[in-house]
Amino acid sequence: MNPDPAQVAHDIIISTRTFQEYQAMFSLTDHDLKGRILDCPAGGASFTATARARGFAVTAVDIAFARGGAELAQQIKSDIDRSRLWGTSSGNSYDWAFYGDPAAFFATRQSSCTAFAEDIEKSPGSYVAGALPHLPFTTDSFDVVLSSHLLFNYAYRLSAEFHVDALSEMARVSRGDVRVYPVVDHNGHPLADLMLDITIRLEDSGITCRRERVEFEFLKGANEMLVLRSR
Ligand SMILES: C[S@@+](CC[C@H](N)C(=O)[O-])C[C@H]1O[C@@H](n2cnc3c(N)ncnc32)[C@H](O)[C@@H]1O
Repeated sequence: MNPDPAQVAHDIIISTRTFQEYQAMFSLTDHDLKGRILDCPAGGASFTATARARGFAVTAVDIAFARGGAELAQQIKSDIDRSRLWGTSSGNSYDWAFYGDPAAFFATRQSSCTAFAEDIEKSPGSYVAGALPHLPFTTDSFDVVLSSHLLFNYAYRLSAEFHVDALSEMARVSRGDVRVYPVVDHNGHPLADLMLDITIRLEDSGITCRRERVEFEFLKGANEMLVLRSR
């Protein structure tokens, strides 16, 4: 049985990645961006804000959206400070080239948080509260579902069961790809047993799985996404 998602989410940081990071993590092309997109879990990412400002149809979902925007922004800022400590104490695990250097990285995080906080106030309808493994959307509601930095990244906290249920649920609401990044744990270590177990169970239930190399590799070893499709 899966533990209570709210209990688990309490231990998980709410990060705030940008449109440019999403493009790189998920190899997003203009063609991919033309459809209806779900960011799941979106956390404090400014992907939705930027994408919508550029005319793309993006919806964000996260368990944390049950809380108010102002409280969330506070937590995201304190999570940026937590990750600052983590980033500086494990500097060798990262390749900072995408951002320039650590200072530029943390400045990007701050401005991404501000963009998120403004957008959730301005367009609350684009930010839906929902907890995997059950999403509040009908089947095939989206053309692409993007999922960054929950599954695999928190494998030490989330069971194989939860991974299978969450991935199946994302495949249910997508009529096209479900793209998941990264497919390594938070230290950049591969998860061969978990990946094999999940892949067998998803393929058995009619969901194809393949791994694709991406250009982005901030955490060393995190250079692939998982792509799912319902048959
Ligand atoms: C590390 S953040 C990633 C956010 C965003 N994708 C990014 O890359 O910046 C992980 C997010 O997962 C959310 N989360 C944790 N458990 C969840 C669940 N069961 N359902 C939906 N969201 C969940 C947390 O609230 C948090 O915002």
